Amino acid sequence: MEFPVINMEKLNGEERAATMAKIKDACENWGFFEILNHGIETEFMDRVESMTKGHYQKCMEQRFKEMVASKGLDSVQTEIKDLDWESTFHIRHLPQSNISEIPDLADDYRKLMKEFAGKLEKLAEELLDLLCENLGLEKGYLKNTFYGSKGPTFGTKVSNYPPCPKPDLIKGLRAHTDAGGIILLFQDDKVSGLQLLKDGEWVDVPPMRHSIVVNLGDQLEVITNGKYKSVEHRVVAQTDGTRMSLASFYNPGSDAVIYPAPALLENEAEDDQKKNQLVYPKFVFEDYMKLYAALKFQAKEPRFEAMKAVAAV
Ligand SMILES: [Fe+2]
Repeated sequence: MEFPVINMEKLNGEERAATMAKIKDACENWGFFEILNHGIETEFMDRVESMTKGHYQKCMEQRFKEMVASKGLDSVQTEIKDLDWESTFHIRHLPQSNISEIPDLADDYRKLMKEFAGKLEKLAEELLDLLCENLGLEKGYLKNTFYGSKGPTFGTKVSNYPPCPKPDLIKGLRAHTDAGGIILLFQDDKVSGLQLLKDGEWVDVPPMRHSIVVNLGDQLEVITNGKYKSVEHRVVAQTDGTRMSLASFYNPGSDAVIYPAPALLENEAEDDQKKNQLVYPKFVFEDYMKLYAALKFQAKEPRFEAMKAVAAV
């Protein structure tokens, strides 16, 4: 089967039902899909890309090379399992932006990233409502669940993956599932590397100009009671070219309470086999994140198990 690519424009025409069905299938069977014509202007995306690459060359590349040299990473002989071949920085947008505190950002780049975040926040909320529609949940259910007392947590991880001499020994980013809600990725359209695990095999997420890759985090798996899955993925470093990746995480607020949507449990109860098989826990999002910080590169199931032992909320 082909990696799901969704033309969002078709949601406004006679192919709406078929397009919604394609999104549903992607959420159930891939945990990933790629969207085109999502409403963020292509010229704007080009500007974000060129400024992100410029910032990397000016402020990050030399530092990365020094780190590689100091650790002798370019001549390793055995697999490196405790670090990733990536150069990153994080920007928080919500509940409070920290962009003014991030060092080395030019004023126009800072302004552009703020604008970019606003567009992605809107897109993430639109996507959550499409998911609600497919799940049979009321409009706004997912957004409201993520809200907590201060609104969602939203941030961007800005990454560059420089060419790596030993991609078989050092991963760009080791395999993991994402902890949060819905993730929107603006990735390099030329340098590939992102792969997801499907039916036991690593499948490439195809680079596509001006697309946004969408994937679902652990919280959506819990809320949908496992109807949708957060899927393992990784970045394989390339020997040629530097890969840019801007991953924006639309996550629950720190005090949001996360649990399977009752409406989805009721539906499942009609199915005799699944009766009373409540697999997923109820917890406060920040408790999950504390656990995730220590266990990111391990399977998600023990995380869900561990949350069951945390005092009921
Ligand atoms: Fe990830």
